[in-house]
Order: sequence, then C-alpha cells, then structure tokens
Amino acid sequence: MALVSHNSETRIVLGIESSCDETAVALVDANRTIIAQRIASQEKEHAPYGGVVPEIAARAHAERLAPMIEAVMQDADMALADVHAIAATAGPGLIGGVMVGLVSGKALAMAADKPLIAINHLEGHALSPRLADGELAFPYLLLLVSGGHCQILSVEGVGQYRRLATTIDDALGEAFDKTAKILGLGYPGGPAVEKLAREGDAKKVPLPRPLKGSKEPHFSFAGLKSAVLRAHNSGDHAPADIAASFQQASIDCLIDRLSKAIKDYTRDHPPFPALVVAGGVAANQGVRGALEGLAAQHNMRFVAPPMALCTDNAAMIGWAGCERLAQDPDFAGDPLDIKARPRWPLDPNAEAVRGAGVKA
Ligand code: KG4
Ligand code: ZN
Repeated sequence: MALVSHNSETRIVLGIESSCDETAVALVDANRTIIAQRIASQEKEHAPYGGVVPEIAARAHAERLAPMIEAVMQDADMALADVHAIAATAGPGLIGGVMVGLVSGKALAMAADKPLIAINHLEGHALSPRLADGELAFPYLLLLVSGGHCQILSVEGVGQYRRLATTIDDALGEAFDKTAKILGLGYPGGPAVEKLAREGDAKKVPLPRPLKGSKEPHFSFAGLKSAVLRAHNSGDHAPADIAASFQQASIDCLIDRLSKAIKDYTRDHPPFPALVVAGGVAANQGVRGALEGLAAQHNMRFVAPPMALCTDNAAMIGWAGCERLAQDPDFAGDPLDIKARPRWPLDPNAEAVRGAGVKA
C-alpha cells in the first residue's frame, strides 16, 4: 500500500464482496468513479461440481482476499488513510464466504480506525444502477434477477425497498444454471444458455409460463425447469431449441409479472419514471431487450447497468457504502460485532412466501 496520503474531499469507500463465488474488492468514490477494482472468479474451482460448493468458496475467498485488497490499494496508489469507510457484504449469501469478507472488513476498519458499513448484497445490486447512471433518481421499479433471487422492488430511497413480488420457488438465474446442467453446458450456466439459445428456435419446444396471468404477483420457475428436463429426456428436441424456448418462456414470465406489478402499483401511486434491472441475469441480452420494450410501452426510462456491474462485484458494495454515507454524513459505522447473515431480506416487512429467499 502507498505510504503517501491523498487529500481528497470526495468520500472514498473500499468495498469487499465474498457472498458467493466471486472474490471482489473495489475502491469507489461518491462521484461515481470506480478508482480501482479486482474480481477473482472461482469458476474453475466449482466447475467440476456443476455448481458452487460452499466450503471450496469460503477457502478460496480466504486465500485471495487479503492479497486482492493489497493489490487494489496499490492499483489506486492509495493508503487506507485515504479511505473514508470500509463497506463489506454482510449477507445474504453462503455464510462461510460472507464471514471471510466481513471479518476482513472489520479488521481493516479497526486497524485504520474507519467506519465499517455492513452491506446487504441485494442492496448492492439494487443501488448499482445509480453508480452507472447519475440521473437515476428514486423511486424506480427494480427487477432484481440473480442466481438466488427474482424480485420486483419499489426502490424508494437508500434503505427503503418495498418488495412487490418474489419467486415462490427457484430464482431465474438458478433456472438458467439448471437448464445449462440438463443440457450439459457446464457452469456457470446463464451465459452458456444465452449463447446456445441464439442458434435455436424459441417456438420449437412447448414450455409452460408458470403463474402467467395469475392474480398473485409472484414468480415461479421450478415447473419450467422440470419441463426443460422432460423436453430434454424425450430426445425429441435439439438442445439449442430447448435453450431458446426456455429463455423465451423465462422472458414471457418476467414481462407478464412486471406488467402486472406496474398495473397494480399505478392504481394508487404515480407511475414509476424508470424501469431498472440488476443482478446477474440482467447480463442477458434477450432479457434486456424485452425489458426495454416494456419500459417504452409504459413511457418509462429503461436503465440497465453495464454487464460488469450486473454480476457480483465489489464496486456495487463500495457504492452502497457511498450512498449510506451520503444519506447520513455523520454515520459512525455499524458495530464491529455485527454478525454475518446468511438470510437477510431487503424488505423486512414483505410477507414470507413458499420456498422463497432460501439462497443468496
Ligand atoms: O448476481 P449474480 O452474479 O450472483 C448472485 O448474487 O446470484 O448472478 C449470477 C446468476 C447466475 O445464475 C448466472 O447463471 C446468471 O446470473 N447469469 C445469466 C447470464 N449471466 C449470468 N443468466 C442469463 N443470461 C446471462 N447472460
Ligand atoms: Zn449477486
């Protein structure tokens, strides 16, 4: 780390992310500059198992995190003294990994006498579009689609998230990953399914659109995944057609449920100015295109962060820290004995639904 101290007026936050299979560290400032960042993916470690193995993930985070923090500080030519706060993911996620990142954050905060900001990983995703887009004001309608979540949220301010819908079983990213596994495409599945889908015909394989048209606001993807397995096992369909049909069915569900959320919400609220997407599945071009169309239909601005901010990263964690500091400039930090939380709903008032919120 550099010994010289930068005299910056702009608040700089060191972000740490370790809740799943990416070890990530970033320095972000309140002017939306990602000063430096590093991401180490654990794809190679988990690939032989076809999914993330929690013990392997925790060990890999523990091995990599300290040298990565050091490297990011060096990349930025900064010392910890230049940083205003340390923001670390404190959940939800795989508990071993979350603990590695949170304990590192606590240690740095203690050693450098800086505030520790414990960030909800989902809040990182929810606010990441504001890191990419300085014009994006509250409130906005957010579709948060990742490997562990599929939620529609009304983002009303920093710390103010109202869940309008969630999945009652699998997350959409999980359904992409399982489809990839069924089709023998390996891990991680989302990008592989998207790539194969480009070569297929989305009309060839009849697949269900679970909960489409339903009065309840939620999502369901478990039945779709089982239908993919049946289609594959029947031997009647080319993998590319299954991939394309699965992706189209997923998109139809997203659009149907979002249309309902917009309709229900605008019955007693002014319309949302913007539709925003975040989380790993937001990297999917088909999903983005469909959401853009929906936003246009409703005269909403469509905001999707760049791909690198959609999948797990530490810039969004550092940025969530910046947002928390901007909201309360006197914030002295979270207590250093704060616990890692494998489960941590963004909207604590949201009703529990069957099976949802189990994974990160
Ligand atoms: O947000 P994220 O990096 O991690 C979680 O917090 O879950 O999301 C990872 C998920 C995985 O399920 C992955 O397959 C999915 O996002 N994903 C995609 C694409 N890229 C990543 N799904 C569909 N199409 C993609 N291009
Ligand atoms: Zn995530």
